[in-house]
Amino acid sequence: MKVIETKNYDQLSRIAAQMIGGQILLKPDSVLGLATGSSPIGTYKHLITQYEEGVLNFSAVRTVNLDEYCGLTQNSEHGYRYFMNHTLFNHVNIDLKNTFVPMGNAEDPEQECLRYEKLVADLGGIDLQILGIGHNGHIGFNEPSESFPSETHIVDLAQSTIDANSRLFDDPNDVPRKAITMGIGTIIKAKKILLIAGSDKREIVEKAIYGKITPEVPASVLQLHRDVTIIISAE
Ligand code: F6R
Repeated sequence: MKVIETKNYDQLSRIAAQMIGGQILLKPDSVLGLATGSSPIGTYKHLITQYEEGVLNFSAVRTVNLDEYCGLTQNSEHGYRYFMNHTLFNHVNIDLKNTFVPMGNAEDPEQECLRYEKLVADLGGIDLQILGIGHNGHIGFNEPSESFPSETHIVDLAQSTIDANSRLFDDPNDVPRKAITMGIGTIIKAKKILLIAGSDKREIVEKAIYGKITPEVPASVLQLHRDVTIIISAE
């Protein structure tokens, strides 16, 4: 596991974007596993800059997102499809048909989990998975629990996750209580993993990297992966 400490969030975002850019340059049809939330916003901004400067070409890139809230439509401005389109996809030359986010409003959510797991496998697996981390150690929406959930599944969000995400909703009561998330098994099968964390995540990142491997700290499973880079900013 490599740990890169950066001075600040912008430096973190630049370095993360360079790593992702390198992946795309070396393998133009890479399958990128993508995260939403605040952590990768700067990274996505720098990827857009690299595209605008003619350094990166996204035309063959495929993407699979980690998770989506249950019950939200593809157009919901609180949904992760909307987030990805507006934060990255609409600003680069990616083919939207090559971008995948779990369908939060699927009629049969259990079936959707199976479909999504198969979709990731049919793409040939994930070349580079980008992760944020929750203050409780979650990755994707794999919340602390008694075992590591393996495949894409429906999860009851932890109250701390609901509280943290309520900042993005006008009414905290509107924050969905359930989500579809790739499992720990889906994530850990990625060939490379890049976790980005702001300074507010220092404590949980240290626990995940140096502490016991336990499903109580889902990110601790990353200690078992052979190609993980963690970028954490000092401020
Ligand atoms: C989002 C996701 C989550 C976030 C985590 C950190 O797709 O999978 O695990 O990465 O909740 O969120 P931020 O970056 O908003 O602190």
